[in-house]
Amino acid sequence: MNKNVMDYDTVSLDDDEGALLIIDQTKLPNDVEILRLTKLEDIHRAIYTLQVRGAPAIGVAAAIGLYIVVKNLDADCWDDFYTGLKAAKDYLASARPTAVNLFWALDRMEQAAVSNKSLSLCDVKKALRDEAMSIRDEDIAVCRAIGEHGLTLLKNGDGILTHCNAGQLAAVRYGTALAPVHLGRERGMNFRVFTDETRPLLQGARLSAFELVADGVDTTLICDNMASQVLKNGWVNIIFTGCDRVAANGDTANKIGTSGLAILAKHYGVPFYVCAPFSTIDAAAASGADIVIEQRPPNEVTELWYKRRMAPNGVKVYNPAFDVTDNALITGFVTEKGILHPPFPPK
Ligand code: MRU
Repeated sequence: MNKNVMDYDTVSLDDDEGALLIIDQTKLPNDVEILRLTKLEDIHRAIYTLQVRGAPAIGVAAAIGLYIVVKNLDADCWDDFYTGLKAAKDYLASARPTAVNLFWALDRMEQAAVSNKSLSLCDVKKALRDEAMSIRDEDIAVCRAIGEHGLTLLKNGDGILTHCNAGQLAAVRYGTALAPVHLGRERGMNFRVFTDETRPLLQGARLSAFELVADGVDTTLICDNMASQVLKNGWVNIIFTGCDRVAANGDTANKIGTSGLAILAKHYGVPFYVCAPFSTIDAAAASGADIVIEQRPPNEVTELWYKRRMAPNGVKVYNPAFDVTDNALITGFVTEKGILHPPFPPK
């Protein structure tokens, strides 16, 4: 039987060849290509160019990638090994600034090395492999649990609107915002999912639509500026999005366009849920004002997905990759531990 994209883990480790395996998401939906990455620079580039993207997937890729790189470090003593590990960790952490899972996963890896420093370097490397695999396995379990809790908000036949890709391709399996849909499918349920195309990088059109169709879901692609009309038509019972970083007060950074959708949802009285693993909560950020928003290159807006450049040379371009949704617009957070409702933060 032919495999479809749902049959692959988005991120995995090939231990025999010492490689990080990712589905190259810049090639989707036309080609499902697996990249085998072994070099620090290639892993950094894969994260920056969105060959692997989505907060949970970035975290897992960075953890496995760091293990691959330090496994081959030419060091005879702990101090040299740790210097090499820190340099590789800091370089990977510089790939993208907003998704906190990247820093969270890399910090866990550093901690795993430090807490085993009394062991031989060979055993420290084994501990790093174990930690990377735990981060991967936990991601699958957490996403499935988010799916279970999210599914309690749904009934068969519901209309769901989603933005960007917070599905299987944004994690190892299931995803966050699309986990309830994939889990519902496993149980024979059907939903009508509307996916925003998500300008400028089209994660909704290229990725969410692709994995939903592959999973047999009734999927309708809309341009971002059609969401208001679709909500007004009464076609949507609930909105599920993912998140890249949740501040302590519940303000949430996610793909650019999310905050506008939350404002529309309030206007039309549609519940707006953010699906959030606890690893995406950043207690050090008091509010959304403390979250760094990634700015990306102008050519992503003017050229990347067009046969020919579609805007005049010389035009200025503003291209923030994320925006912050005010906590007051969020109906609840679907986490692996259950659904959190206001007040945010909990009293
Ligand atoms: O720039 P991207 O494609 O990495 O942005 C991804 C998102 O905004 C997702 O919604 C978010 O990471 C949650 S993924 C479960």
